[in-house]
Amino acid sequence: MELCIALDLPSAKENLALAESLKSHNIWMKVGFRAYIRDGKPFIEALKKINPQFKIFLDLKLYDIPNTMADASEEIAKLGVDMFNIHASAGKVAMQTVMERLSSYENRPLVLAVTALTSFDEENFSLIYEKGIDEKAKQFAKLSYENGLDGVVCSTFESKVIKEATSSDFLTLCPAIRPFGEDAQDQQRVATLELAKKELVDFPVIGRPIYKDKNPAQKVERILQHL
Ligand code: C5P
Repeated sequence: MELCIALDLPSAKENLALAESLKSHNIWMKVGFRAYIRDGKPFIEALKKINPQFKIFLDLKLYDIPNTMADASEEIAKLGVDMFNIHASAGKVAMQTVMERLSSYENRPLVLAVTALTSFDEENFSLIYEKGIDEKAKQFAKLSYENGLDGVVCSTFESKVIKEATSSDFLTLCPAIRPFGEDAQDQQRVATLELAKKELVDFPVIGRPIYKDKNPAQKVERILQHL
């Protein structure tokens, strides 16, 4: 398991201070909407400057027509990040077009597909997708696997099932981790680190339980000891 920290703080200064306090660990840093929209490419460069071994996951969840997604993916590859994601519901052609476009990049970033957002409960999910989360997440994962993606974003509860339906090395990245049973906040399908381990999660993503803690560096140490 490789820890991925969500940098969702209200300013670049605060995110960079958090990264600075964690620079002795070669962990993954998740740059999402908030940070990327506000701080862009210089923010990614600043993170790499703090620790060149930090791995960067750009969490922009692309969803558009295939050509626009492939154009965006190429720009992402040029940024030099290590992983990014698209929505699985963008479909097979979008997946193929993105992977084809990235094929000429020697060190292309890993590409994951979002299956079911962890903030969905069953009722609200089926209002949109007309299927249960388990079934749909598995279907999205198979589609992603068949079309050459590296893995999926899902909840801990689907991780093992998805690996069984695809391959043991098909990656699962799971947000909504509450390492030691902290408050769920707006997340619905939360899991502890213990469960994430059991369910073979590759990347547990943790945001608020770390950056809202009064001592984030200590919390990260504690988490890393449990991985
Ligand atoms: O603060 P918390 O640990 O809930 O943060 C989870 C992070 O993972 C947030 O940055 C959120 O945008 C992201 N995420 C998610 N569910 C997904 C994909 C990404 O919660 N399916």
